Amino acid sequence: MQFTVLTSLPFEIETLILPVFENEPTVFPKPYQTLVKLRFKNKDFTGKAGEMVMLFPEEKGLPSRVLVWGLGTKDTFSGPVLRGLAAELVRKLKTFSRREVALWCLPGFAFLAQELAEGVEFGNFSLAKFKTGKEKEEIENAMIGKISFIVKKDTLSFRKALKKGFLIAEAVCRVRDLVNRGPSLKHVDYLVEQSKGIARKHGYSLRILDQKQLEKKGMHGILGVNRGSDMEAKMVVLEYTPPKTDKKKPIVFIGKGIIFDSGGYNLKPGQSLQEMQLDMAGAAVIMGLFEVLKPLQLHHHVVGIFPLTDNVINAKAQKPSDIVTTYSGKTVEIVNTDAEGRMILCDAITYAIRHFQPEYIIDIATLTGVCVLALGERFAGLFGNDAELLKKLKHAGETCDELLWELPIHPDDRKKMKSKIADLRNHDFSPQAGALKAAAFLEEFVEDKKWAHIDIAGPAFVKDPKKYESPMGTGFGVRLFVTFLEELRKG
Ligand code: BES
Ligand code: ZN
Ligand code: ZN
Repeated sequence: MQFTVLTSLPFEIETLILPVFENEPTVFPKPYQTLVKLRFKNKDFTGKAGEMVMLFPEEKGLPSRVLVWGLGTKDTFSGPVLRGLAAELVRKLKTFSRREVALWCLPGFAFLAQELAEGVEFGNFSLAKFKTGKEKEEIENAMIGKISFIVKKDTLSFRKALKKGFLIAEAVCRVRDLVNRGPSLKHVDYLVEQSKGIARKHGYSLRILDQKQLEKKGMHGILGVNRGSDMEAKMVVLEYTPPKTDKKKPIVFIGKGIIFDSGGYNLKPGQSLQEMQLDMAGAAVIMGLFEVLKPLQLHHHVVGIFPLTDNVINAKAQKPSDIVTTYSGKTVEIVNTDAEGRMILCDAITYAIRHFQPEYIIDIATLTGVCVLALGERFAGLFGNDAELLKKLKHAGETCDELLWELPIHPDDRKKMKSKIADLRNHDFSPQAGALKAAAFLEEFVEDKKWAHIDIAGPAFVKDPKKYESPMGTGFGVRLFVTFLEELRKG
């Protein structure tokens, strides 16, 4: 979305938004003051969060539409609240088909410009990417094309924060689009091409490990999952080395990239198959993160790794009771072909350790259905072996409203992942503590590295979205990682 910052009202503006706190009329320039005051007086409007009243002033020189916008009480107002309200506001504006709008900014917005911009962009997001004809035209025509922020004082920091908010939200929206689309529209090579585009655009170094290279390295965790597929597995490795990097050791982010999870021979029952295009959400988050790393000039050396394959079946597909040798050398008994995420992640973790000296390894994955049962859609499960790292991630989550809830790894659950016939097994026949056992399995591969595992099966794809989300893909993780990297720098 285009935006401008202005210190006075543009003459030609058609739609002006006037934000108002609950029971606390703001002071606006004269003609607006009268308009708003009257509404308060008549109790047409009280300023409750999300309340909106459209006025159609007939006076000459005034915009033809003035939307009075309630922000709630001052003490409940915050960045996340503004993000949600701004998204709601834009959704409302879209019903009026106004392409250009101006928003009167209150002094309190100065420190919340990033959240404001994110909310505005999220409100413009449309799920209907594959509609055609008249409906498509209507949706496109309703989108807000340009917004002017009217401020008392134009500062560089305000503009920068707005720009940052739009940039991040655009990346998140691209992640949502990727997660939502069906598997045939995001096959492995499509995502590889997208990754090449990101690398080219920002000058990242990029390595694609194709089937042959995966075989040469002995990454049979990934290859095993890929055996039933008619498309090659690939692993994407993106690397960002900022010009004045102070740390040699990178932070490695790893994302699960299952294009479609049918469950394999442990085929998922009908309803559970329904949303399994979501299973590359972890990989999509890494792509989203790399869309913004360089533009935001984040100062960390960052590596992003995502193995890509679908988990489908043919006669060659991996079967329960098969045994695979992972890249680490450890053997795994495949008890359940539907526990495939951990099989591709473990090879990526070993790759991270062998090829980089990671300061941290952080994996993000739609890993277990039971994590959704435990934590629902608001919280991602957080696991790991370094209290300091987990604390930082949790804090970043609170800052940006992508919440993490720490779950334990118990020695008994570690034991359950041992196999009688091989070193490990990928499942132990019981759904109890499934998210914890998945984490215990991954932990076997992290050696002495500081590691965190984030299970986003709940918040990556939702039925009950937050105000600034839509149903389906949320892009959960991009803002979390950006905030984490920023807070890491600030110390
Ligand atoms: N991709 C699924 C997890 C999932 C389920 C994500 C529902 C989002 C919503 C994962 O690969 C899976 O199938 N996990 C199994 C693990 C089990 C076989 C140990 C599960 O959760 O049932
Ligand atoms: Zn699965
Ligand atoms: Zn899966």
